[in-house]
Amino acid sequence: MSVAPHRPPDRGNAATSHSFGPEPRPLSLLINGEVRTALADPATTLVEFLRDALGMTGTKIGCDRGACSACTVWIDGEVAASCMTLALDARDHSITTIEGLARGDQLHPVQRAFIEHDALQCGFCTPGMVMSCAHLVNNNPECTLDDIQAAISGHLCRCGTYPNIFKATLAAAAEMRAAGSEESK
Ligand code: FES
Ligand code: FES
Repeated sequence: MSVAPHRPPDRGNAATSHSFGPEPRPLSLLINGEVRTALADPATTLVEFLRDALGMTGTKIGCDRGACSACTVWIDGEVAASCMTLALDARDHSITTIEGLARGDQLHPVQRAFIEHDALQCGFCTPGMVMSCAHLVNNNPECTLDDIQAAISGHLCRCGTYPNIFKATLAAAAEMRAAGSEESK
């Protein structure tokens, strides 16, 4: 599975960054394939928009200053810190959050592997970790331990579950390689 960068439809965001605010106004963003609209002001970050305006609390706030990666989402298929992104700047981009990673009842291989390999304790860092690890295995199913360590080098896990995160991500990558070779038969 990969997230193909695509442009959202014209959602009538007539306001520009210059004309938006200072009072909250309706803002429409493409999130997990759906247009979602809620109030935002110019200082609203993407993670605040997700959590506070839309009630999508899967994405966590750890440091709120770009230092822990708990708030990781995908923007146009690339990992991004949603606490460092203004909601306004996410207009005309496609956002994927942890809530949008599964396909119906089918968890992403990284989500399944995190469960099977006990790769979480308190779980606070987990959504962000999963988004970065899923991005890695989607784009590089041949990834090595070094690749995984690099992919999550900006993530802080206070519970120290790194060894099991590495095992889970290697297992998910192996599953995706196996699925890929099945498909090519
Ligand atoms: S909450 Fe965004 S990087 Fe820590
Ligand atoms: S599982 Fe607790 S912070 Fe990572």
